Amino acid sequence: MAKTASKTPSSVGKRAPKKADHYNDPEHNYLRYWDGRQYEHAAEEIAIRKLLRGRHFRHAVDIGGGYGRLCVFLKRFADRVTLAEPSQKQLDIAKDFLKDHPEVDRKLMQADQLDFADGSIDLITMIRVMHHLPDPTVEFSEISRVLSDDGYAIIEVANYLHIRNRLKHLLKGERMPVKPVDIRSTNHKHDDDIAFVNHNPHTVIRQLEHAGLHVISSLSVSNLRSVRLKKIVPREIMLGAEKVVQRPLALVYFGPSIFLLVRKG
Ligand SMILES: C[S@@+](CC[C@H](N)C(=O)[O-])C[C@H]1O[C@@H](n2cnc3c(N)ncnc32)[C@H](O)[C@@H]1O
Repeated sequence: MAKTASKTPSSVGKRAPKKADHYNDPEHNYLRYWDGRQYEHAAEEIAIRKLLRGRHFRHAVDIGGGYGRLCVFLKRFADRVTLAEPSQKQLDIAKDFLKDHPEVDRKLMQADQLDFADGSIDLITMIRVMHHLPDPTVEFSEISRVLSDDGYAIIEVANYLHIRNRLKHLLKGERMPVKPVDIRSTNHKHDDDIAFVNHNPHTVIRQLEHAGLHVISSLSVSNLRSVRLKKIVPREIMLGAEKVVQRPLALVYFGPSIFLLVRKG
């Protein structure tokens, strides 16, 4: 029997969504944040290309896509791309950033209340958003709801298990935490601050499974992220190495960022 499309986000009635509008902060310039981070940006494009190679989609939605940094790149893989972002300021920046790409839709929306019908989207990306989601249960269930049965999602995980933390914990004889770790400095914590956490990827994979989303591939990304290295090693060499190591290093969750390709069903 055909599934009836419902336009009701699954979070309605479960919990009042907390407004994720912190990126409206006039003092924070997320566009400028990317100055000097060409290696990280290119490493992410390499990862997306590897994960989506040979696939083409009808409609890709970049959840929490900011000012649309990756939307034009995503056009290579989909007929239609929507930037879904809860900060009006980011969407306003996107209007200019994407001015030559009127085909990219821009929608004010947050991950726990996706304004799409059930099963209507066949590619979702959510990059650099998980560090703001200490408990992504509702968000994953929304992603699962709107994904079509043949749909895929790329979920980027801010990885607590990266090599530096692993060594630190080893030296102190401490176990790696299963729960997300708040990585804001204690001096700068306020109750109304946006969450800023790193996750244990094993926990995230279990949470995805719980939402009916199965990991079929993973990559370790930005493995050479280091201000010093970036100063002395030419970018092409860094990116050449990055291309080779993303897949093998995912086996040990080496890098600061893990890209998970998930499928529904
Ligand atoms: C670090 S930026 C990443 C932006 C973009 N994905 C990128 O990689 O350039 C984090 C983004 O997540 C968005 N965000 C925060 N909480 C969110 C939520 N609950 N649902 C959707 N997006 C959220 C912010 O507004 C911001 O644009």
